[in-house]
Amino acid sequence: MAEILNDEILHSYVIYTETPKSAADMELWFAAVEANYYPFLATVDESSQKLAGFAYADAFRKLPSYRTTAEVSLYVAKAWRGCGLGKALLTALIEAARRADLHALVSVIDSENQASLLLHARLGFTKRGDWPEIARKFNSWREASFWQLLLGPAKVDPGEQHVVPTTGHAVAD
Ligand SMILES: CC(C)(COP(=O)(O)OP(=O)(O)OC[C@H]1O[C@@H](n2cnc3c(N)ncnc32)[C@H](O)[C@@H]1OP(=O)(O)O)[C@@H](O)C(=O)NCCC(=O)NCCS
Repeated sequence: MAEILNDEILHSYVIYTETPKSAADMELWFAAVEANYYPFLATVDESSQKLAGFAYADAFRKLPSYRTTAEVSLYVAKAWRGCGLGKALLTALIEAARRADLHALVSVIDSENQASLLLHARLGFTKRGDWPEIARKFNSWREASFWQLLLGPAKVDPGEQHVVPTTGHAVAD
């Protein structure tokens, strides 16, 4: 997994970091995904027994009100690209997210990442906007494109409070 990810970290703009991940970093990272019960999927090439691709949903921001939304990450090994694996993994991740009662998936995609932009559009994600100069990588500004997929009727906690508590000064004139 680190091999696939580090290739992108070191040689592309698809992920906004320049620091390769160690195996230990990966373990900690995925333990956190698992602990939150977010979906994680991986596909192994049967003949080589090597990882061909993986996809997972992870927390989108840390504030509790975002708990019904998760952020998508998706990586296919270079040897496997263009064979439909990315589409299969993202389709399965969307289904897994529905089963996990998530309400929305979001993806933050570098504006030059044509493959990912087209894949998300194909699978029903809606583009919500571009954020220019949102990150720096390899000494240049990067523009990110924000995409969202709503997964169906919201399943909210029945005990959830629907009335906004006011202080008497909360209503503006
Ligand atoms: C994006 C990525 C996951 C696509 O995986 P893939 O297995 O190559 O994609 P698929 O073969 O399933 O193609 C699915 C769709 O993606 C689009 N696509 C895939 N490769 C493309 C390319 N090189 N150029 C343009 N569109 C492309 C097409 O719309 C395609 O659908 P179609 O064949 O029906 O036209 C893969 O390129 C990858 O891992 N890239 C590096 C990591 C990355 O960018 N992850 C996403 C971060 S937001």
